Amino acid sequence: MTATVFSGVQPTGNLHLGNYLGAIRNWVKMQDDYDCIYGIVDMHAITLFQQPAELRAHIREVAAAVIACGVDPQRAILFNQSQVSGHAELAWIFNCVARMGWLSRMTQFKDKAGKHRERASVGLFVYPNLMAADILLYKGTHVPVGEDQKQHLELARDIAQKFNVDYEVDFFPLPEPLILGEATRVMSLKDGGKKMSKSDPAEASRINLADGPDDIARKIRKARTDAEPLPGDPKGLADRAEARNLVGIYAALSDLTVADVCARFDGAQFSSFKQALTDLAVEKLGPISAEFARLRADPGHVESILNRGAEAARQRAEPVLRQVKEIVGFLQA
Ligand code: TYM
Repeated sequence: MTATVFSGVQPTGNLHLGNYLGAIRNWVKMQDDYDCIYGIVDMHAITLFQQPAELRAHIREVAAAVIACGVDPQRAILFNQSQVSGHAELAWIFNCVARMGWLSRMTQFKDKAGKHRERASVGLFVYPNLMAADILLYKGTHVPVGEDQKQHLELARDIAQKFNVDYEVDFFPLPEPLILGEATRVMSLKDGGKKMSKSDPAEASRINLADGPDDIARKIRKARTDAEPLPGDPKGLADRAEARNLVGIYAALSDLTVADVCARFDGAQFSSFKQALTDLAVEKLGPISAEFARLRADPGHVESILNRGAEAARQRAEPVLRQVKEIVGFLQA
């Protein structure tokens, strides 16, 4: 079986360093060697209400940011999920394959719905089924994501497996998560116990890909740390969430291991380490934010890339969906 890579990002705001190091950077690395399909997943975004004008703007902006990071629409398919109706169609079939109990165990649903479970949208509950449909509509085999998506990927495998068993076919592959690098779970700069997230109201908790050198420097300078110098060995980071996060970010940005970074900064104070991290982040993210600004100023260009991507994605999805309908027993013209 040939490898097909699928991954997606929600257009709910600006991309941040966690999205980049946990996922998008690996999307870029894979496009040379694999058949890659990347989605701006607006149908996932509306599981929490989005203002229509903001959603439209965010779809274009997130697509621009992904391209600025290095995803090349000539080599990978980059498209907007709602423009390919097969995602919704396959998701419905998966709603009938997945079990309530499986979805009830999803930690992200519990976190996002919180105490107000009864008031959460049904879409938020069945969100992982749509995610499985995204991947399997293209018979995706490999899925580069950050650590937080691991449980959803396990569910996608369960759905693929149950579909194959129920219908007595060997049709869907069991997609594998690719959780790669030294920063698969980037934490908030303000609280080492919380994930860096687009929805955190504290702007200083994250580095956005649109941030210029001054913002980056200010946010790193103000990042929470502890009073100890850096350890020479990664074991010394065990109970130091904030220190571990900054060292992990440095390692990922410099393509070193955490052990290499500890060896290099053994005994250093945070003041000097933060300066080195700022220089590195500005060097690596500067070209991305410049390209992002250029693409942002040309939304027509980005939209034409997404339109072409949707056309290519539809062509890929169509035969798979036909076969699925055949397997399920739907009549087709
Ligand atoms: P989303 O939009 O929340 O995030 C996009 C990608 O960024 C990763 N990520 C992080 N990685 C490391 N540290 C962080 N702090 C961090 N925050 C986010 C996420 O793991 C993700 O890889 N449900 C998905 C989107 C999706 C999808 C798919 C992914 C929809 N369909 C099919 C893969 C395959 C999501 O909400 O990602």
